[in-house]
Amino acid sequence: MSKYIIEGGNRLEGIIEVQGAKNAVLPIFAACVLTDEEIRISNVPDLADVVSMENILKELGVTIKKNGRERILQAKDMISDEIPSELAKELRSSVFLLGSVLGRMKKATVAYPGGCDIGLRPIDIHIKGLRDMNVVVEEKSGYLYCDGSKMIGQEVCLDYPSVGATENVMLAAVLSTGETVICNAAREPEIIDLQRFLTAMGAKVRGAGTSRIFIEGVAKLHGCDFTVMPDRICMGTWVLATALCGGETVLKGGRKSEIHSLCCKLDKSSCHIKEENGIIVIKAEQGGRNPERVTTQPYPGFPTDLQAQFCAYAALSRGTCVVTETIFENRFRHVPELQKMGADITVEGRVAVIRGMPYLTGAEVTARDLRGGAALMLAGLAAQGKTVVCDIKHIDRGYEHPEETLKNVGAKIIRV
Ligand code: EPZ
Repeated sequence: MSKYIIEGGNRLEGIIEVQGAKNAVLPIFAACVLTDEEIRISNVPDLADVVSMENILKELGVTIKKNGRERILQAKDMISDEIPSELAKELRSSVFLLGSVLGRMKKATVAYPGGCDIGLRPIDIHIKGLRDMNVVVEEKSGYLYCDGSKMIGQEVCLDYPSVGATENVMLAAVLSTGETVICNAAREPEIIDLQRFLTAMGAKVRGAGTSRIFIEGVAKLHGCDFTVMPDRICMGTWVLATALCGGETVLKGGRKSEIHSLCCKLDKSSCHIKEENGIIVIKAEQGGRNPERVTTQPYPGFPTDLQAQFCAYAALSRGTCVVTETIFENRFRHVPELQKMGADITVEGRVAVIRGMPYLTGAEVTARDLRGGAALMLAGLAAQGKTVVCDIKHIDRGYEHPEETLKNVGAKIIRV
């Protein structure tokens, strides 16, 4: 079990290249099965979740050539319409392969993706959306058997702006007959990137980024070249790392507009963030004042994927902050670990009350999930003394060699 050993208390100074977005590249990889032509994708981050998705695609018959951060994928001959259950268990977001396999094969089978570290992760909204498009979905002994032979464009109203459900319906609709309108669609930037990709393949999709997405089905899609957007959650993570440790970092490849809700919550008197010529410059001193409250919301609200990292920041800022997690039911698993470091946090249900402390003390802590692990890494950077973060395989799912990124800006962190 790999660990990070971190010597805290160092300012961060230097340049960080923002990696490609995990939550954009996963649905884009799923979309590659929608054509039998070759697709070249650049800026693919080197992540465990990407490897998991590649393994699933290969089982379906997709060939994948890797050259650094570039992939060449081709679904020339699909050999199966069944998403392999053992592999799908490793990557629950493989559920949006349902839409793309249905789009290509007009039928699909997938094992029910289980819950994960942060919640039950039901897929009822996905299933309802596909059924609205006349897909026959049969749930039997833990599997979903989908018959899309009569799939047609429809108005699909999502009960909740689910990111994955929005993507699944988009992927099923692009090769369906007629027009599909997704109402109450998720508005995340990754949805816009998926629309950009599908359009590059010849699909007729518009409205991504708003709550209504229009898809005009076409008969065939073609290959394309595409570059994945930067990862806004990594960007927010590095902004918080700089605000926690103090220093001056430059983020290359990010877009400040995509972390606007985070920037609004940081104390402007101690953390200056400005964007110039496509780079983001952060100048920060430790000990900023906490905002009174942070509440996670669907985009453009405060992202749930930055909640844990923000808790680490709030634990070391002045004043009290009330953090409310409205998206997932079990996303405070980093709190007991931060408490081992001296954080003053009390959790009642989905609300954490965080009273900023003058310092945190290094300790041995354990990552319980991806973003909670990132939060512990950040807390260790700013804590006094040595912190050991155990079970960092969770962090490898979403961050590309973070210890290298942080070492390059002055952090004392090693992987053992
Ligand atoms: C995506 O997950 C992201 N993952 C998550 O990032 C992110 O936290 C989440 O969107 C919210 O922004 C990927 O894109 C691969 P949802 P997704 O469907 O699509 C409930 C990370 O750390 N729901 O918008 O699964 C669900 O339980 C990961 O990078 C239903 O009830 O999120 C949750 O409470 C974590 N029924 C809420 O909606 C459904 O059918 C939001 O889920 C679907 C979802």
